[in-house]
Amino acid sequence: MPQIEATHTPLPADYYDGVPDYLVDVYDWAYVNPQHVRLLDRPSVVKTLLFGQDGRLMRRYLDRIRPGSRVWQVAHVYGDLIERAADRVGPQGTFHLTDVAPAQLERAEAKLASTPWARVLRADAAQFGSEGRYDLVCSFFLLHEVPEEIKRAVVDNMLAHLADGGEAVFVDYHRPARWQPIGWLLRGINAWLEPFAHALWLKEIRDYASQADDYHWEKTTLFGGVYQCVIARRKTAP
Ligand SMILES: C[S@@+](CC[C@H](N)C(=O)[O-])C[C@H]1O[C@@H](n2cnc3c(N)ncnc32)[C@H](O)[C@@H]1O
Repeated sequence: MPQIEATHTPLPADYYDGVPDYLVDVYDWAYVNPQHVRLLDRPSVVKTLLFGQDGRLMRRYLDRIRPGSRVWQVAHVYGDLIERAADRVGPQGTFHLTDVAPAQLERAEAKLASTPWARVLRADAAQFGSEGRYDLVCSFFLLHEVPEEIKRAVVDNMLAHLADGGEAVFVDYHRPARWQPIGWLLRGINAWLEPFAHALWLKEIRDYASQADDYHWEKTTLFGGVYQCVIARRKTAP
């Protein structure tokens, strides 16, 4: 795990309560430790991690948000994505953001404090379930960071929350084309730091859905196959 310089203040004893084991075991340094989170939560970090493709990838999600719609983003993302998504929803709509890590919830609440139509909720994307249905549900780079059984539960839960005519948007990693040199770099990064990511090189996101045939699936890839955007819409009865 990378070493990040930070001063240490003891965390409360119950700080890790409710944080899934995989997040503590694999991603504590990146998403749970509050001092690290403060250092990492900036657009320049997202741009670097996404090889400068952040703008294109975010637009795949943001361009689908209609003003006045109900949107659920299943996990916090560093930088300014959640403010931009909530701005697009606008005051006639609803923007719900869920996350499981206290430091992420704190960051999200600060970013959305002046956006009354936005709510930040502590909930696992695999289990969240009491706020009704949504016109758009988005997972932005969550699936590659969770174990296989959680990928299945998150995909199913997102689809279960679609309103009539609604769509689920998944933006995440994908198997790079052979000619894409970044593929070799990512192979190393996955082996070192991202144990759940390689599965997205081998399987389609639709393979994680229990009732995939009930949905239309549309996949596009970007940046020589490094990334994918998948849109799922429920088929209407004939
Ligand atoms: C969306 S992913 C990765 C995003 C991207 N790499 C970035 O730049 O922020 C990271 C977030 O997912 C959250 N997370 C992990 N497992 C989750 C789950 N089961 N439900 C909701 N949030 C989860 C983490 O706490 C973290 O805030």
